[in-house]
Amino acid sequence: MMKILVTGGAGYIGSVVVARLLEQRHHVEVLDDLSTGHHDAVAGEAVWHRRPLRSAGEVLDGSFDAVVHLAARSLVGESMQHPERYWHGNIVETLALLDAMRHHSVPRLVFSSTAAVYGDAGSDPITEMTATQPTNPYGASKLAIDHMLTAEATAHGLGAVSLRYFNVAGAYGALGEHHDPETHLIPNLLTAAEHHRDGRDYAPAQIFGTDYPTRDGTAVRDYIHITELADAHVLALEHATPGTHEILNLGTGVGTSVREVVDAVRQVTGVPIQVREADRRPGDPPVLVASGAQARRLLGWVPEARVTAMIQDAWTARSQHAPGPPVVRDAPTPAGGHLR
Ligand code: UFG
Repeated sequence: MMKILVTGGAGYIGSVVVARLLEQRHHVEVLDDLSTGHHDAVAGEAVWHRRPLRSAGEVLDGSFDAVVHLAARSLVGESMQHPERYWHGNIVETLALLDAMRHHSVPRLVFSSTAAVYGDAGSDPITEMTATQPTNPYGASKLAIDHMLTAEATAHGLGAVSLRYFNVAGAYGALGEHHDPETHLIPNLLTAAEHHRDGRDYAPAQIFGTDYPTRDGTAVRDYIHITELADAHVLALEHATPGTHEILNLGTGVGTSVREVVDAVRQVTGVPIQVREADRRPGDPPVLVASGAQARRLLGWVPEARVTAMIQDAWTARSQHAPGPPVVRDAPTPAGGHLR
């Protein structure tokens, strides 16, 4: 049993990581300011601190065994328009977390990194040795943190694992994806399917870019199931070794194009959603597909879910368990406590 702080534990990925850690009987505390997360996504048994990352030093103490660090700004488009939000929100805030971990001798960290650190890496599967050339400030901010962790491990003995996620999709029971604003492909297509099914007027879902050098002209991504992604965090916590920083790509090695995702959504939902072809979205690389060989070798992590299963689970989560309303952002801030 470990005592673990999960930053960003009220978010789409964080809430599933928290649920899986609780199932493994770990003691879990969540640090989340609810700037983008949802209060009702935090599992009941977790202790919750509604605070910004920079105040991690007020929550951590020497009794913690590990931190899983997912709190971040994560929108490529926003990072192009407001890069300063990414330098402050990701780099500066993470430095405060590392300072607090060092101060309290918390020995392990699992960090939520991203395929966006590689930028436009070509069409071959991306390994951890592929050159990192981010094409947007979001990816650059995550890459800077990866460099911080390497130095922290070498200089101060931290045991760190960076997990570079490729595209995450699906749901774990009722825990699904509902960002506001929602920019991701699969949730946008499922919203269109709901509107079509319910006979409502809706703006057709958009395909951003049909002139990419790919098999059907649309961008290709490597989708992994949220549950399998969460399990990689549990394995990485067990693997983290003092004085080392491991970097692992989390993907399947199989790419799916935007058009193929649209077809899969039509097939799973049975709804003939309309789509509109639009210009490329700035900052989007044509192809992002991972080699998962290193994660398989070091963690024994082998993702198996297919895109149709991810879409099915996301669709089921929406149809059966409508998400609760997000917590009002400027509600009085409790210092923390158990939820529910
Ligand atoms: N897309 C559309 N229509 C939409 C939304 C997206 O065509 O309505 C396209 C995008 O242009 C892209 C693909 O679908 O080509 C996937 O887009 P997402 O927004 O779902 O995901 P991204 O690949 O842009 O981003 C995800 C994470 C980022 C991370 C990136 C790289 O959200 O945090 O993967 O790993 F940086």
